[in-house]
Amino acid sequence: MTHAQSNVARSLREAPASEALRSAPSVATGPAELAEVLAGLDESPRRLPCKLLYDARGSELFERITELPEYYCTRVELGILREHAGEMARHIGARALLVELGSGSSRKTRLLLDQLPELQAYVPIDISRSALEASVRSLRRLYPGLDVRSLVADYTRSFKLPLPAELTQTASKLVWFFPGSTIGNFEPGAAVDFLARLRQLRPGPQQCLIGVDTPKDRAILEPAYDDAQGVTAAFNLNLLQVVNRRYGASFLGRGFRHRAVWRPEEGRVEMHLVSRYRQTVRVAHHTLQLEPDEIIVTEHCYKYEPEDFARLAGQAGFEVECVWLDAQRRFSVHLLQSA
Ligand SMILES: C[S@@+](CC[C@H](N)C(=O)[O-])C[C@H]1O[C@@H](n2cnc3c(N)ncnc32)[C@H](O)[C@@H]1O
Repeated sequence: MTHAQSNVARSLREAPASEALRSAPSVATGPAELAEVLAGLDESPRRLPCKLLYDARGSELFERITELPEYYCTRVELGILREHAGEMARHIGARALLVELGSGSSRKTRLLLDQLPELQAYVPIDISRSALEASVRSLRRLYPGLDVRSLVADYTRSFKLPLPAELTQTASKLVWFFPGSTIGNFEPGAAVDFLARLRQLRPGPQQCLIGVDTPKDRAILEPAYDDAQGVTAAFNLNLLQVVNRRYGASFLGRGFRHRAVWRPEEGRVEMHLVSRYRQTVRVAHHTLQLEPDEIIVTEHCYKYEPEDFARLAGQAGFEVECVWLDAQRRFSVHLLQSA
């Protein structure tokens, strides 16, 4: 089905008027968020939450990362979606509610939307207000009949889907879309808890279409997170500016360098900020001393073989309905259904 045809089909239903983005209270920089930052900095090794990578500048830098020659993830996942979106849509069927977690630019989603003209509503959720605003603007332009109900929220905290009863009662099912291997940013146990929490958020049939990166050679993985142009380094270092701005911290960007390490025994890439020298940093009313070469871990990116991910999903009460991989098995997209 072409864009034009699907837009006609959608325009038969009424689109909501343009509106300010809904925002969950959890996105505020309140005491709970500061406590999370301080607790992470107290750990050994020190940690900062990866969700802080995504302010307006972080979201822009992430979009540049997706275009880098070293960062295969977006290109390969887009290729899988392009090739199989029709089949995915047939598994999803008519009148579904599509809820995307960490929707960013919603670029991948469009491949699905083109195949799902009878979608009940699309709910993009992201912590980055600027990314969500821009994507909702272009979705409204490209799909004028689509019911878009966006939500600025931190999905690691509790959130309520912005869906009125009349929509959920007539929907065939709820479909979570979670591309980008963002599930890999959770520790494996936390990923199980997160998927289980999604499943319990609403009764009734559910599916989850989720992108999962696979383990591969260090020579591919480390440059993917530490590119020659230094865009990923700028993305990682920007997190310190976010902490400075939101929590009254005194991190100096020039006091740190970016590093990416593949740990095959753990099945994850780690992103670090490495202290260049001994330094004292203030965060709110706390001070911390960093030694030369001491690291702050900013992101873990777990990679799973399809059968290992199927086991993880099973522990959360989902079973695999279908898995699509590219020919070189660089990336996988799983369609899960509630067991
Ligand atoms: C790796 S990017 C993936 C973006 C897009 N889904 C894709 O596949 O290209 C992660 C996205 O999740 C969002 N994000 C990260 N942590 C989040 C959180 N805790 N709650 C909501 N959104 C989050 C970021 O703003 C960003 O848009």
